[in-house]
Amino acid sequence: MTKPLDGVRIIDFTHVQAGPACTQLLGFYGADVIKVERPGSGDVTRSQLRDLPGADALYFTMLNGNKRSLTLDTKTPEGKEVLEAMIKTSDVLVENFGPGALDRMGFSWERIQELNPKLIMASVKGFSEGHSYEDLKVYENVAQCAGGAASTTGFWDGPPTVSAAALGDSNTGMHLAIGILTALMQRQKTGKGQKVSCSMQDAVLNLCRVKLRDQQRLDKIGYLEEYPQYPHGSFTDVVPRGGNAGGGGQPGWVLKCKGWETDPNAYIYFTIQGHAWEPITRAIGKPEWAKDPAYMTPEARQDKIFDIFKTIEEVDHKVRGKYLTIGSPIKFSDLEIEVKPSPVLGEHTDEVLRDLGYGKEDIARLHAAKAV
Ligand SMILES: CC(C)(COP(=O)(O)OP(=O)(O)OC[C@H]1O[C@@H](n2cnc3c(N)ncnc32)[C@H](O)[C@@H]1OP(=O)(O)O)[C@@H](O)C(=O)NCCC(=O)NCCS
Repeated sequence: MTKPLDGVRIIDFTHVQAGPACTQLLGFYGADVIKVERPGSGDVTRSQLRDLPGADALYFTMLNGNKRSLTLDTKTPEGKEVLEAMIKTSDVLVENFGPGALDRMGFSWERIQELNPKLIMASVKGFSEGHSYEDLKVYENVAQCAGGAASTTGFWDGPPTVSAAALGDSNTGMHLAIGILTALMQRQKTGKGQKVSCSMQDAVLNLCRVKLRDQQRLDKIGYLEEYPQYPHGSFTDVVPRGGNAGGGGQPGWVLKCKGWETDPNAYIYFTIQGHAWEPITRAIGKPEWAKDPAYMTPEARQDKIFDIFKTIEEVDHKVRGKYLTIGSPIKFSDLEIEVKPSPVLGEHTDEVLRDLGYGKEDIARLHAAKAV
């Protein structure tokens, strides 16, 4: 079966999570993703949080499926020569090194354009170009704080809390994947490649769009009616942390289910949408609340919202082998996605070199120089 990205060759110069999440997604859709790693060590996640001695860690395998692995020391003259050959024959180079690493390696954007003007170069950095922090290296939680997400999670009387969901890492990779696909579409029209970049701060901020909405409303009217502080509590001049509030206009909260005393996940998220109020009153044994002016409308209910939630909680509710991973989060009607295992370090080194036109002797020379 042909796949949408068949024929698209990607130099995957990524590591840890933000970059690998992006290139794995493109691999799911058929791109030939060649992961370039330092000989001997490779991506640091191969050995991070190992659960099986000697096997690549799940951290690596779950972010690097559907790729080939080439070991290459791009700081040696021979390694640079191979990377140049790859740039000349590829469509996209994706990287998430610390700021300036590619330039120091001798592969500035200007140099890449000289080698292949059709190449799309895609980068993840912590902060965008021109930002006063553009030179900083950044990991997940810094991005969650700098992009505003941490200020929205946790409870209003506690400190900002980071989320375990990779809002800075994988989320930025997903944004970058959209950028790469857009640049590929544009290349079809212009014949030219371009530089695409997404900063982790911006990708997090993009997810906090509705909180910026709330800040502007708060600035204007001084309160936010969908937050539990309304109408009795007080607001400061910044949007309060949401706790488990709905935030989308309907009140909601996390409620206990049967077994919550021993099962840490025996909870349900419960939202009271306007039109669902009447059936909810029946389900919780309070049918009289359906017509009671003190409960009938969302505005009337707001100051009793925690009593209502309390009533609902009282209701009685009913060399690794196989590993679990997560496939494409996006589904297609005409594309079956095959999820393949991640490669061991350097598994495809000779194969990729042969693809680039290197003969037996040349390959032996590169091995002898420890460039691959
Ligand atoms: C993630 C991050 C903090 C890790 O930092 P780090 O471990 O110090 O690694 P760097 O990316 O800075 O790379 C270190 C060096 O390895 C070199 N290197 C990497 N692969 C190489 C290879 N195959 N051959 C030779 N050198 C290589 C780089 O060129 C760099 O060299 P230099 O800085 O001495 O010039 C940093 O890469 C970063 O900020 N990336 C951008 C933001 C990002 O993606 N963060 C989220 C990661 S999930």
